Amino acid sequence: MSSPKPLPLDLYRHIVLLTGAGVSVGSGLPTYRGTGGLWEREDIAWIVDARFLPGSLPDLWRLYSRRRADALGAAPNAAHAAVAALQRARPDAVTLFTQNVDGLHQRAGSPDVVELHGSAFRTRCTDPSCNLPSFADDQLYASVPLCPRCGAPLRPDVVLFGEMLPDLALRRAQSALDECDLFLAAGTSGTVWPAAAFVRLAAQTGARTVLVNLDAAMGSEEFDEVHLGKAEDILPALLSL
Ligand code: OAD
Repeated sequence: MSSPKPLPLDLYRHIVLLTGAGVSVGSGLPTYRGTGGLWEREDIAWIVDARFLPGSLPDLWRLYSRRRADALGAAPNAAHAAVAALQRARPDAVTLFTQNVDGLHQRAGSPDVVELHGSAFRTRCTDPSCNLPSFADDQLYASVPLCPRCGAPLRPDVVLFGEMLPDLALRRAQSALDECDLFLAAGTSGTVWPAAAFVRLAAQTGARTVLVNLDAAMGSEEFDEVHLGKAEDILPALLSL
């Protein structure tokens, strides 16, 4: 397969990038859906559903300690590097949203990453009345850690099913999509809202919409331009400056 031609990035003033688990596959991390995906585990629906807190915390911490270890053992790949290079070259023009919690965009040098689903590398208190701020944390826990301020259990600062996305992330998405002239999604199945709706909102604004994904994911017919293949091969060519 030949490399795609670079996008005419100079033509665009407000570029929105959206990434999903597929961009980290080249780093050896699994996707959520499909063979070998994280959601294949039989007990997973219970572990990642907010309705089952706090009883699910021991399993949630086992899962996220494992995800921390896997992400720390992985290195950013050429897809992360291409995104970071574009952001550094056009800091005022590019907004990066990711559904990933693995921290690889930041480690590739992305200066600003809007984490729609939180971060595996942040921890917060489960007691909503506790004023301990969410904090950076790469520890692996064998048992549920307790809040140093109020003694309640701590939890990974990730979005579980049934929870709202972080307010600031939603506000940034709204304003970025309102003025976007190029929207590019990479490595996402387009099955989880609200990120799945971004392409439609960007198209309504009049943006050109581009998808880079291994397969024709759900909603791929909504994009103006679709590049099927590995993000780590295609993004460096498409985003070449
Ligand atoms: P998915 O696992 O749903 O989809 C990953 C997509 O990446 C699939 O369409 C794959 O075909 C594609 N893919 C695999 N390898 C690739 C590669 N090397 N290059 C490009 N594409 C590749 O992951 P997401 O769409 O990110 O949410 O999932 C969205 C959300 O669903 C996750 O953030 C998570 C999950 O429920 C929460 O946990 C809240």
